[in-house]
Amino acid sequence: MFKTLLATLGASSVLLASCTQQVESKNVAQAPTTPSTVEVQQTTQKPQERTPDVVYVPTPTEVVDKMLSMAKVGKNDILFDLGSGDGRIPITAAQRFGTRGTGIDIDPERIKEANANAKKAGVTDKVTFLQQDLFKSDFSKATVVTLYLLPELNVKLRPQLFKQLKPGTRIVSHAFDMGDWKPEQTANVNGRTVYYWTIPKEVPANLR
Ligand SMILES: C[S@@+](CC[C@H](N)C(=O)[O-])C[C@H]1O[C@@H](n2cnc3c(N)ncnc32)[C@H](O)[C@@H]1O
Repeated sequence: MFKTLLATLGASSVLLASCTQQVESKNVAQAPTTPSTVEVQQTTQKPQERTPDVVYVPTPTEVVDKMLSMAKVGKNDILFDLGSGDGRIPITAAQRFGTRGTGIDIDPERIKEANANAKKAGVTDKVTFLQQDLFKSDFSKATVVTLYLLPELNVKLRPQLFKQLKPGTRIVSHAFDMGDWKPEQTANVNGRTVYYWTIPKEVPANLR
């Protein structure tokens, strides 16, 4: 009888100890914390979907200016920068011409940086930055598309440009052409080439 009582007490204390541990660890997990602003921002960021197709290299200011002037960007345009880096192209267009713009970048750090730059420039009402893979993005509302990618990425993107964009939409690319799709204009800025195209009414047979 005494032995049975001891065994029962032993089992109960083991059970109680494990319950206490569970409650304690629950309390630790639920304990109120005071995270810093940085931690809050990090937890609300989406993880990066995959490795970027091209590393971040910013377009120099004078080339940005040329891209915007070649595309005759204005107040009524909707500009999409596909692979937008620190946001300088849509931000400059918004500051100078009141253009509404969207920047798309796969890298969450670039999106964070672009949003901070838009805030500093006072154009958060005009520009939006989306963390997306540009090859899966909807840029069909664009009247101007800007690019600084790589030659093979421009060629890969070409069918989507033809599919999504309205005839007359202007496209400017820093440094890289579009393969067989010949540009309507080119310009040289301090040794860097800017290419310009408009979306035709019909896709030329050799580019289908
Ligand atoms: C050469 S930088 C150009 C940045 C900016 N457009 C400029 O001209 O200053 C290319 C950018 O494309 C982004 N990128 C690379 N692959 C991408 C993808 N699949 N989807 C969206 N962004 C991408 C990179 O993170 C990088 O910021």
